[in-house]
Amino acid sequence: MSHSPVHRAGNAPVTIKLKQGEVYAWCACGRSSNQPFCDGSHVGTGLDPLVFEAESDDEVQLCTCKFTATPPICDGSHCDIEQDG
Ligand code: FES
Repeated sequence: MSHSPVHRAGNAPVTIKLKQGEVYAWCACGRSSNQPFCDGSHVGTGLDPLVFEAESDDEVQLCTCKFTATPPICDGSHCDIEQDG
């Protein structure tokens, strides 16, 4: 099934404090203006957010380049992709 291209929303991860038991929707399409979380802008792209529940109170680095192999956690892929300007 095809979908619209994923947009790179940022060039570095964002540090987020997760709360145990809280459900989060990580933007996978790169179009949200509320990075790194979904704001519904993916509608019509064929892409969906990654919804996950925090297993513990934890501080994590959430991906904004959208090319991580371990979504929603940054894996350093932003360092490997070409930077704009
Ligand atoms: S706005 Fe990007 S996945 Fe929802």
